[in-house]
Amino acid sequence: MIVSAKDSRPLPLLAGNVRVIIEPDSEAASRRAARFVAALVRKKPHCVLGLATGSTPLAVYRELIRMHKDEGLDFSQVTTFNLDEYVGLSSIHPQSYRQFMQLNLFDHINIDPTNTNVPDGRALDFEAHCRQYEQRIHDSGGIDLQILGIGSDGHIAFNEPGSSLGSRTRLKTLTSETIRDNARFFGGVEKVPHLAVTMGVGTILESRRCLLLAFGGHKAEAIQKTIEGPVTAQVTASALQLHREVVAILDEAAASLLVRRDYYAEVERAQSLLEAGQERHLGIANQ
Ligand code: F6R
Repeated sequence: MIVSAKDSRPLPLLAGNVRVIIEPDSEAASRRAARFVAALVRKKPHCVLGLATGSTPLAVYRELIRMHKDEGLDFSQVTTFNLDEYVGLSSIHPQSYRQFMQLNLFDHINIDPTNTNVPDGRALDFEAHCRQYEQRIHDSGGIDLQILGIGSDGHIAFNEPGSSLGSRTRLKTLTSETIRDNARFFGGVEKVPHLAVTMGVGTILESRRCLLLAFGGHKAEAIQKTIEGPVTAQVTASALQLHREVVAILDEAAASLLVRRDYYAEVERAQSLLEAGQERHLGIANQ
């Protein structure tokens, strides 16, 4: 909740569905995203974060590490749940998402390792594992803030086009587009696993707040469809339009195909006025 700078009255969040914040470049966007995460960690030290892997959140994690080292941002009570993991990769495989998280975040902050959850790509019984993963999220009190990247085909987590918008954590077959996109990490298309364990769209929609990040022109079409297109299982990120509190932080390139960007800028301007206690500029009475 946002409160008035003057007298702590609760102020309305102006954006309806997806709040769109456009920054000049991915570095600025990542810093902004890190500030969102840090604000939650400070306000609710025992919060539950949903985490993504891939190129997109890397600079956000770097900034969170910097905040931990320079500003004492404390992760000691934070719990995390990652969105997904490749099937067949052990937790020590260099391309596993568990390793990604260790290298790019967990090893550099004071998080309790037992509070970090990444699906197990080598579970013996995937059905049971997925059920338990959902149960653990539930038992932790639910995800407060879910960080999301987006695939060029509009997927969130590994919910490829056609995934049910009510889906839960489960096994998913990756599309050839995703396999091609991720081949850069594996040194060749043939080395990319074909299956992943992934939170479902329904699981993601249950988090209290979603932070969708997209950087670069190769994400522009997916972002336009996600924010301004119809809600469809063909672009699973579009289901975020049904969520009550989504903040999309984009760089200019990823925002370049948005039709209503002038309006999003207006909403942000009004939001800043509200947060600065300048309600009178918005015609709000009793100032
Ligand atoms: C990763 C994940 C994926 C990525 C998406 C974008 O945990 O859930 O949905 O967010 O594939 O990947 P990058 O950021 O590498 O472009």
